[in-house]
Amino acid sequence: MSITSNPESSANEMMEAILPDPSMSTTILKIANSAFFGLPREVSTIEKAVMVLGFDEIKNIVLGKAVFNSFKQFNDENKKSIDDFWAHSFTCGLAAKILAERINLSPSEMFTAGLIHDIGKLAMLITFPSNYLHLLNTSDNSTFTSCGQELELFSICHDNVAHKILNRWLFPQQLLLAVGYHHRPLETDDSPLLPSVIQIADIISHIFFKSKGMSTLDHKAVMLNFCPEIFDFWQKLDLPCSSDEVNTWFKLLQESHDRDTAILTIFSS
Ligand SMILES: [Fe+2]
Ligand SMILES: [Fe+2]
Repeated sequence: MSITSNPESSANEMMEAILPDPSMSTTILKIANSAFFGLPREVSTIEKAVMVLGFDEIKNIVLGKAVFNSFKQFNDENKKSIDDFWAHSFTCGLAAKILAERINLSPSEMFTAGLIHDIGKLAMLITFPSNYLHLLNTSDNSTFTSCGQELELFSICHDNVAHKILNRWLFPQQLLLAVGYHHRPLETDDSPLLPSVIQIADIISHIFFKSKGMSTLDHKAVMLNFCPEIFDFWQKLDLPCSSDEVNTWFKLLQESHDRDTAILTIFSS
């Protein structure tokens, strides 16, 4: 993990760390060769993948996979909740990647931030199994208000929990910021832009599952109910967020979801 957080690390150091781990190598090659990156030619070795995609892209896949591996210990009793959890998280990752492409941020970094944005919930589930499972099931992963209940019951919200974990794991600052403030982007001392992308992607992911087949929905009007201050913030920065733009995000997400679902299976295998 220290290699991925250190800006001085070289691609060679990363390759040396990845190569002995067959599961990590397989994941990287499968994802590098998927439609997700749209490479014109197949890459068959980690060296080639790093060369063609670049250090940062590979780093972001490695970090996503490392987090996935760290939270594999749930038993069958929790399976449905955990599957729903990752379906929501993965869709948030896809939405964050789309937003990043629209506003010139790193798509792979924002994908990983979206993929791992709610891991604080899994950490709380491990720490308080019965209390937190009840909260997870009753909120159906579909409300945006779980922070309020968490603060009431545990005096901490899952984005803050994730911030502490990723900090301990020496994750890059950008990911710490994006994940650690996704329910309160305007509270950070840094720029709220990265956590605002994840907050918007999070809400898009919730609406995406709730509004299946409702293509006429005015998505921006729905989203404004949940994060009006973030749309104000984006408007001030002159970032695209008109009703048409928001509808485009959902259209692109549908396409990406149809095309890229295999990636979730690769991460979880
Ligand atoms: Fe969250
Ligand atoms: Fe979420």
